Amino acid sequence: MSTLLIGASGRTGRLVAEKLHSAAMPFCAMIRNAAKRAEFERLGARTVVADLAADFSHAFGGTDTVIYAAGSSETEGAEQERLIDRDAVMKSADYAKQHGAKLLVVISALLAYDPEQSPQALRHYSEMKRESDDYVMASGVDYLILRPGTLTTEPAAGTIELVSHAGSALAPVAREDVAIVLLEALNAKLMNKVIGFAGGTVPIRDALKQA
Ligand SMILES: NC(=O)c1ccc[n+]([C@@H]2O[C@H](COP(=O)([O-])OP(=O)(O)OC[C@H]3O[C@@H](n4cnc5c(N)ncnc54)[C@H](OP(=O)(O)O)[C@@H]3O)[C@@H](O)[C@H]2O)c1
Repeated sequence: MSTLLIGASGRTGRLVAEKLHSAAMPFCAMIRNAAKRAEFERLGARTVVADLAADFSHAFGGTDTVIYAAGSSETEGAEQERLIDRDAVMKSADYAKQHGAKLLVVISALLAYDPEQSPQALRHYSEMKRESDDYVMASGVDYLILRPGTLTTEPAAGTIELVSHAGSALAPVAREDVAIVLLEALNAKLMNKVIGFAGGTVPIRDALKQA
């Protein structure tokens, strides 16, 4: 199986890359800055340089599983949210279908459950996440959409809480736990599911059995 990891150089993407490497799962890291190649080659990965704001279909050849871990940065604004949190996810579904990929995994956000309930500053971001999630689900490609709550750079807890709404009372979740959820979900061959989660006390493997 060959996996394309889009957004490999991001905070969550790097953790997913490490876990794919630890699990001996071959992957190709998609990055936009060629200077970051060596970091992924050290993990035994192939690399492809591409910009999500342009045509990046050349990255999809020979790929079974596509993981979309990219995102606009918190300060970049609506145009980048449209390009990176929506349009590039939609293009990934199109390219996955054209190239016969078997599964598209997207790291979305808990806020995508109820964009209209999002705080004003996050409303557009949430709408973009929701629109791209809906597109992926209707694309005909098998998918797995992960919707984590607020992310931290803390070490993994190994535990989460499944939720299907956003809210200020929910605990944040470590990016490393998102990476663990992703790998566990792949191993369990979960597909055509939307999995929302926040920080919690249920061991990840047990939580995924209920997903
Ligand atoms: N922040 C939160 O609390 C939160 C909560 C729930 C869900 N999420 C979602 O979780 C995912 C991971 O978030 P994160 O904070 O770990 O991500 P991050 O550290 O901000 O990394 C974003 C990645 O996207 C890449 N990227 C952005 N624009 C690109 C472009 N035009 N072409 C190619 N690559 C591009 C970046 O590349 P460079 O390394 O080259 O910059 C980087 O690898 C995102 O989808 C995010 O929306 C975040």
